[in-house]
Amino acid sequence: MSNHFSNPISRRRLLQAGAGLTAMAFPALRPAQASVGSEYRITAKPGRVPLLGGRYPETAVWNYNGAVPGPEIRVRQGERLRVAVENRLDEETTVHWHGLRVPNAMDGVPHLTQPPIAPGETFIYAFDCPDAGTFWYHPHQRGSEQVGRGLYGPLIVEEPEPIAVDRDVTWVLDDWRLLRDGQISDDFDNMMDAGMAGRIGNTATVNGRLPETFAVRGGERIRLRLINAANARIFALAFEGHRPRVVALDGQPVEPHAPDNDRVVLGPAMRADLVIDMTGAPGARFQVIDTFYRDLEYRLLDLVYADPPLREAPPDTLLRLPDNPLAEPDLATAERHEVTFGGGMMSGMMGGGMMDGGMPGRDMGGMMGGMMDRMMPGMRHDGVWTINGIAAEGHVMDPMLTLARGRSYVLALHNDTAWHHPIHLHGHSFRVLGREGTPTRHREWQDTVLMAPRERVEIGLVADNPGDWMFHCHVLEHQAAGMMGVIRVT
Ligand code: C2O
Ligand code: CU
Repeated sequence: MSNHFSNPISRRRLLQAGAGLTAMAFPALRPAQASVGSEYRITAKPGRVPLLGGRYPETAVWNYNGAVPGPEIRVRQGERLRVAVENRLDEETTVHWHGLRVPNAMDGVPHLTQPPIAPGETFIYAFDCPDAGTFWYHPHQRGSEQVGRGLYGPLIVEEPEPIAVDRDVTWVLDDWRLLRDGQISDDFDNMMDAGMAGRIGNTATVNGRLPETFAVRGGERIRLRLINAANARIFALAFEGHRPRVVALDGQPVEPHAPDNDRVVLGPAMRADLVIDMTGAPGARFQVIDTFYRDLEYRLLDLVYADPPLREAPPDTLLRLPDNPLAEPDLATAERHEVTFGGGMMSGMMGGGMMDGGMPGRDMGGMMGGMMDRMMPGMRHDGVWTINGIAAEGHVMDPMLTLARGRSYVLALHNDTAWHHPIHLHGHSFRVLGREGTPTRHREWQDTVLMAPRERVEIGLVADNPGDWMFHCHVLEHQAAGMMGVIRVT
């Protein structure tokens, strides 16, 4: 068990296994019924939520509509979504619709695509939703603090004919840096975070709660939509005793497959839709473990089997989701560009120890901070990370690339740092074509690609959405500290 997890807050007492189950309805195998709409109103404001539950004090957060995560927005594929966003924070904000291919003016990037929403003001976002899948929304203004304090929510675009499952479940994962009193540590400008792994916290939540159990039934088939809303933590979830199959990544359907090493790896902002067949016996308990950081594994929660089972065995219906209308890049004629990600602290010195999921402990802060002061006198907080040698300062900048609308491109990405980076492109999805020169097995469509230290990854896309689009690391501290650029499609 990691000290990152068990301290300073000890986990809440186990809920009575299966409590409340009798009251739960388990419908026959059919698409989940959820309330779907096309008009929403969300208000960003300070609030308090029972993150830790039990006898622990509530945590002061910033959130949408009083809850963390904010309301699950559900809309049907092809429909027009309209969301009025009211800002009742004491500072400017925006909302970015992560992964949705929206028109540029609706992308929610302050100053680049819209003036930020001032305190007291309301901005109305309205756009069509061409792709079905699992997406999310969050501010793009001072993201490290605004997202880090709880401003985010899931956005589900439903297929006209979803795959048949018993339950369609969303888990929004987050990672908080809480103090002993259950309040958020306000060191959002911590230089150690900015220059190293980002703001890694000490408390992982699912849907804004520290969960103990998740109730399931034998024979059940669940579609589990995972969203990583953490600033910096990478999750690698292992479902003990189960064989989840990945049916979509970043909202986009993929050939159903078991994840590599049976671990579902999600960098910040990434999503995975899993289908999990529940094959345990009544009363059985299985751990869901996050194994990403070496020697810092912890149990996220337990799957607990209720009695009686739903049916004898899970159904054997098709898992392949219908493709979204994405333009296929023409690799034969694609123009190629190299993009190099650089910077970060301790690249040479600490790199070895940090590779493959190593993570600095928070208690290293003092020691490392002192070392850093001596090594890098005068180094500024905003400018420790670069793309093609340039560190961004704010969202408005000259484009690092200008792409011709309708043309195909291959971007050869090189992570020339000792740290992981989930790299996100706005307004488009891209195919992950290869890693280290080897073609990927599934040529998955993603909007955020996780790059390991020193890794080379090739992505391909058709630049078919005109405008100035952010291209940045989704470790929000890296983004703030320069790892951000603009790609113009004209
Ligand atoms: Cu999820 Cu540029 O953002
Ligand atoms: Cu990064």
